[in-house]
Amino acid sequence: MNILLVGSGGREHALAWKIAQSPLLTRMVAAPGNPGIAGLCEIRPLNATDVEGLVALAKEIAADLVVIGPESALEAGLADQLARAGIPCFGPTAAAARLETSKAFSKDFCARHDLPTAAYGVFETPAAAAAFLDSQTPPFVIKADGLAAGKGVVIAATRAEADAAVSDMLGGLFGQAGARVVIEEFMPGEEVSLFALCDGETAIPFGFAQDHKRAYDGDQGPNTGGMGAYSPAPVLTDVLARRAFEDCVLPAVRGMAAEGTPYRGVIYAGLMLTPTGPRLVEFNARFGDPECQVLMLRLQSDVLPYLAAAAAGALASLPPPVWRDESALCVVIAADGYPQSPVAGAIIRGADGPDHDEAVVFHAGTARDPDGTLRSAGGRVLNVCALGAPLSEARGRAYGRIGGIDFPGGFHRSDIGWRALPAD
Ligand code: AMP
Ligand code: GLY
Repeated sequence: MNILLVGSGGREHALAWKIAQSPLLTRMVAAPGNPGIAGLCEIRPLNATDVEGLVALAKEIAADLVVIGPESALEAGLADQLARAGIPCFGPTAAAARLETSKAFSKDFCARHDLPTAAYGVFETPAAAAAFLDSQTPPFVIKADGLAAGKGVVIAATRAEADAAVSDMLGGLFGQAGARVVIEEFMPGEEVSLFALCDGETAIPFGFAQDHKRAYDGDQGPNTGGMGAYSPAPVLTDVLARRAFEDCVLPAVRGMAAEGTPYRGVIYAGLMLTPTGPRLVEFNARFGDPECQVLMLRLQSDVLPYLAAAAAGALASLPPPVWRDESALCVVIAADGYPQSPVAGAIIRGADGPDHDEAVVFHAGTARDPDGTLRSAGGRVLNVCALGAPLSEARGRAYGRIGGIDFPGGFHRSDIGWRALPAD
């Protein structure tokens, strides 16, 4: 198969790494890719939102399948344009991706289909938002409607903070993405990420993971895209995973089909395990990053048949995917200043080289100078991942590998996996 992989982060490096192992692969091209992905396949300098350019590239390489990593490409309508060109695509249309790209759409959809999630309201004016806040108790959950690069959610401990968040968002802090705000009931509990592949009609479970959203040890500091992940997550027992799949994922896939926007690709249910059972925090229309990295390490089955079947409406014909018994753990190394204002340009040594001891380093935000020097070029820079049994062994291997990386100005959490591991 000829594959075009779209995206440039650690998630896409992990997908490229797994796809590269497929006996079905003939040729893979990534756009725009990154220096890690460049070690696995050809890369082309096209942005993930350059829909026209990417469709032309897919035609040029006679792609049998386009695999879309990031939500920006989904929102830009890449899947729609590929469908028009008759090219199979792993990733939902822009209309189906609204489950992620519009929180107001997503919440209204959940209400229409009776999915378990937080009570909410959608507001366009500070006065309407204030009237709703009057009826709520702290903490207050305030969200910008649209995509805001992971920064559009504020959990406000006080009413003053809540009012400030509403006024920032409606005042244009996130541009159009904040033209409407969603205010939600706060759900207590532990969070997990559940993944399912969907082909428009059928959905199959595709693993789960737990990530660490806060920047610093002990779950302190600002929210980030994710500072590390591990899979499986013992807190999501088989019984809870099945219940979450049946209560949250299946009705969503059926609902999308019934509304004329069938969902194809991976659906990521962010769940809160509350005392009354799993409830949805949000849907995402793509793999989690860094959750994808640990899923790809654990996936024993060839990934390509699953991605292709999701695109082709053929998931029902495949056996359930097989996962390794070992756990996988990923530690994100971020640049100084992440998430607010990461510093780029530091020279990194020791990140390249063969995978060993089941540890593998995925590139997330790197660039290579013409002379081969590797530099940091993003907020999250490297993802150091390892398999092991038990999870503590995976953790030991990942942190051991980090010891061999010289990245001045890089930082990482030292407690990834703490919820699932006994205290040291
Ligand atoms: P989101 O971008 O919707 O995933 O929100 C970011 C983070 O805010 C989530 O991962 C949760 O930790 C937290 N969060 C969002 N909505 C709620 C809620 N209704 N109750 C409790 N925590 C929430
Ligand atoms: N790790 C969280 C996300 O990908 O949204």
